[in-house]
Amino acid sequence: MTTMTAGTTTAGAAGSQVAVALESVTKTYGPVRALNGVSRTFRRGTFTAVMGPSGSGKSTFLHCASGLDRPSGGVVRLGGVDIGRLSETKRTKLRRERIGFVFQAFNLIPSMDVEQNITLPLRLGGAEAEPAWLDEVVRRVGLADRLRHRPSELSGGQQQRAALARALITRPEVVFADEPTGALDPRTARDMLRMLREAADLTGQTIVLVTHDPVAAAWADSVVFLSRGRIVDELTAPSAAAVMDRWETL
Ligand SMILES: Nc1ncnc2c1ncn2[C@@H]1O[C@H](COP(=O)(O)OP(=O)(O)OP(=O)(O)O)[C@@H](O)[C@H]1O
Ligand SMILES: [Mg+2]
Repeated sequence: MTTMTAGTTTAGAAGSQVAVALESVTKTYGPVRALNGVSRTFRRGTFTAVMGPSGSGKSTFLHCASGLDRPSGGVVRLGGVDIGRLSETKRTKLRRERIGFVFQAFNLIPSMDVEQNITLPLRLGGAEAEPAWLDEVVRRVGLADRLRHRPSELSGGQQQRAALARALITRPEVVFADEPTGALDPRTARDMLRMLREAADLTGQTIVLVTHDPVAAAWADSVVFLSRGRIVDELTAPSAAAVMDRWETL
């Protein structure tokens, strides 16, 4: 689906339909092979869930795919750029400009109010928020009446939504989320998933979501299953029941 709004996104790599590509990516920690030859492309505007048992390499996958971490072998391309060839400084800049993260621990800055937290990634890059885009992001996450609150004055779900707004404010080409709904009640979790879905459908952003929850995975276009550092299966147009079935045989 395409359409929409001021705030329409995707800078750079014009024409390419591939947002992220991994080719034979490995990651070892001493004797541990956390990723063992993972290849996968993520097309623009798609929403992909990544599932697998604890220790199967999901977080490692996310860290390598997003440029937070360097793989031990193989190639990761973000918008066509081989991030293994970038210096640490350039990799950080690319990440700040083109990637959004939502972690389970929200990592909000306690001394800053909601608006300051949301706009932090822009300010770190020396930019200011466009008022119309800030309004839209804040409206999408439902925090318009909480902008002057500190994180300690918010509920867990509101903190999570502030973290999502912070991930979206730079109009990142790709949003990586590591179990962002793990600590949320079902309704707040659904709001979060709907917002990720909208980021893919309305603004063409690419979403990669690590989750243990088949209901969450069912919001995605496809589910990639990891086991022992390898992709072992994939489901498209997943239903929660189909994800459950597949999960049980992993
Ligand atoms: N910094 C590290 N040093 C050493 N080993 C690590 C490190 N990070 C991860 N590992 C190991 O790599 C493997 C994959 O870890 P990873 O965190 O990617 O798993 P996961 O699928 O995200 O698990 P979970 O569902 O529990 O979060 C595990 O065996 C883990 O112990
Ligand atoms: Mg993990």
